Amino acid sequence: MAHGLLQGKRGIITGALNEQSIAWKVAELAHAEGARFVLTNAPVAMRMGEIKKLADTTKAPVIPADATNDADLEKLFNESVQQLGGPVDFVLHSIGMSPNVRKGRTYSDLNYEWYKQTLDVSAMSLHRMLQAANKVDAIAKGGSVVALTYIAAQRVFPDYNDMADAKALLESITRSWGYRLGRDKKIRVNTVSQSPTMTTAGTGIKGFDGFFGFANAMSPLGNAPAEACAEYCLALFSDYTRYVTMQNLFHDGGFSTTGVTPEVMAKFMSAEG
Ligand SMILES: NC(=O)c1ccc[n+]([C@@H]2O[C@H](COP(=O)([O-])OP(=O)(O)OC[C@H]3O[C@@H](n4cnc5c(N)ncnc54)[C@H](O)[C@@H]3O)[C@@H](O)[C@H]2O)c1
Repeated sequence: MAHGLLQGKRGIITGALNEQSIAWKVAELAHAEGARFVLTNAPVAMRMGEIKKLADTTKAPVIPADATNDADLEKLFNESVQQLGGPVDFVLHSIGMSPNVRKGRTYSDLNYEWYKQTLDVSAMSLHRMLQAANKVDAIAKGGSVVALTYIAAQRVFPDYNDMADAKALLESITRSWGYRLGRDKKIRVNTVSQSPTMTTAGTGIKGFDGFFGFANAMSPLGNAPAEACAEYCLALFSDYTRYVTMQNLFHDGGFSTTGVTPEVMAKFMSAEG
């Protein structure tokens, strides 16, 4: 049931690769809630992805941009402002990729060129986006930026590998830009720390099934699905959260503050209990 929560708002949504993508769900909901937005993804992902389908159903223009390429990002913001008829009110950063994870290199045997790529694609890209946007005033006063992150930034999940370092950097960039954009333009910048979710990026992590099941058993509300993550992102894009900024907000069914649950304990109890 739509509420017109984003009626009249303009935005940019990155990272919609296929129907499983969290960004895909955000785009569908933002459309239902009255927003107009540009969809963007890396040119290579667009060839493989199904973004055209989403663009049709949400009536969104598509502007390709590699999030590690400053010229692409400058073009993205300039063209978005033009096509949408004004500065954007919200931006979703939903971008993550680690060549080390993809190619099975462990944390104690990282390829450093790939490590740089992990940090650039998954974290510095947020800095690059905000720097490009800020230079041309492409985000409206009172706007809202949300980037998606994972709790491996705070706690060790060994198979999350160098993505953990990227998420820690992403969360720090969120605070650093959040301060500046808040002070100068009343723009909010936050991260949403999402439960494990069955997407292309998620399932690329070694042992993802185990990750997913453990988190579910450790969360009083269970793992948060992608659709619920989209709802939370929209709440952050809306005017109801105008004073929330520079936060890492857990959207994880309670996982981050749960010590143990009977379900997990049961796996370690002797037969007598
Ligand atoms: N799936 C999970 O379990 C989970 C949990 C917490 C946080 N997240 C985060 O959510 C975000 C979205 O991931 P997802 O799970 O929807 O998976 P996804 O694979 O659908 O999305 C990742 C997106 O990043 C894009 N991307 C990669 N390199 C890029 C580049 N150079 N330029 C522009 N875009 C690029 C991909 O094309 C893809 O669309 C990521 O930041 C991810 O780390 C995911």
